[in-house]
Amino acid sequence: MEVYIPGQVTLINCLASHVKLFEIELKESFSVRPGQFIMLWIPRIGEIPLSVTDMEGSVLKLIIARKGKVTTFIHENIRVGSRVYVRGPFGNGFTLKKWKALLIGGGYGLAPLYFLAKSLNFLGYPCDVALGFKNRNEVFFEEEFKKICSRVIIYTDDGSYGLKGMVTDILRGKDVAKTYDAIYACGKEAMIVKLLQYCLRHGLYMEASLERYIKCGVGVCGSCILDGGIRVCRDGPVFNSSILRELKDLGKVWRDPSGRKQPLP
Ligand SMILES: Cc1cc2nc3c(=O)[nH]c(=O)nc-3n(C[C@H](O)[C@H](O)[C@H](O)COP(=O)(O)OP(=O)(O)OC[C@H]3O[C@@H](n4cnc5c(N)ncnc54)[C@H](O)[C@@H]3O)c2cc1C
Ligand code: FES
Repeated sequence: MEVYIPGQVTLINCLASHVKLFEIELKESFSVRPGQFIMLWIPRIGEIPLSVTDMEGSVLKLIIARKGKVTTFIHENIRVGSRVYVRGPFGNGFTLKKWKALLIGGGYGLAPLYFLAKSLNFLGYPCDVALGFKNRNEVFFEEEFKKICSRVIIYTDDGSYGLKGMVTDILRGKDVAKTYDAIYACGKEAMIVKLLQYCLRHGLYMEASLERYIKCGVGVCGSCILDGGIRVCRDGPVFNSSILRELKDLGKVWRDPSGRKQPLP
């Protein structure tokens, strides 16, 4: 879909210090798969890619973390009643399959994982989720996940809530490879690299949603290109372990807005 769909913000919830949930009533609904993303356009400010957190009828839910120009504007100026514009959905999305899955994520990586967990739950496929945050004040969506997942395991860096440590510590605690058939991940690339190494070592299937600088969203401009010519917007953003293992850029570099390779922040 190439046209912009107008929408009106109907609800804003503060989830954590730099994270808000936005509900947008769209003029028309569209069908979307978990893991796909939309481009949110704020006139005169800019356009950014965001994973779909949920879509119920024509109400689109987005989790938005404050980062730079556009997201700061959204946090500070978008109110209930504000008009915004959406194009999409774009990208491939996660594989929905009847298997025992473990979803692993942190920060706003929860956005596509929530939609995935909800879809797996709807289909009657079991899943557990492990979520990582800095501290107890940054924890969000625990109750939402509890309604749709068999187990919700929370990690905080400082141990102020849940288990102390990184979410990847779950790989040490119990035999993940024996318990689960697949891992789905979204979050920092350092985390994705650790999970991938584990999955490759144990022959466990994995899918991860990657983030790159996205401009067109439809595979034309080359802004999101990875090594090997793979375009995150068109060929991803979700990639399975056999593709992830071939990506030399993974966990190391991304392209800035001018297309130059830069170390990942
Ligand atoms: C497929 C996809 C799904 C996403 N889903 C979500 C979501 O659900 N919720 C959410 O909050 N965010 C999500 N993001 C990230 C979001 O798009 C960016 O945070 C946003 O575009 C930043 O815009 P800005 O104008 O606020 O920041 P900018 O002013 O553009 O940048 C701020 C800083 O972040 C760096 N930066 C910007 N974009 C990237 C990038 N892609 N990779 C590495 N560094 C970057 C810039 O170099 C700069 O240092 C997603 C990104 C992708 C590609
Ligand atoms: S954003 Fe233009 S090719 Fe991916």
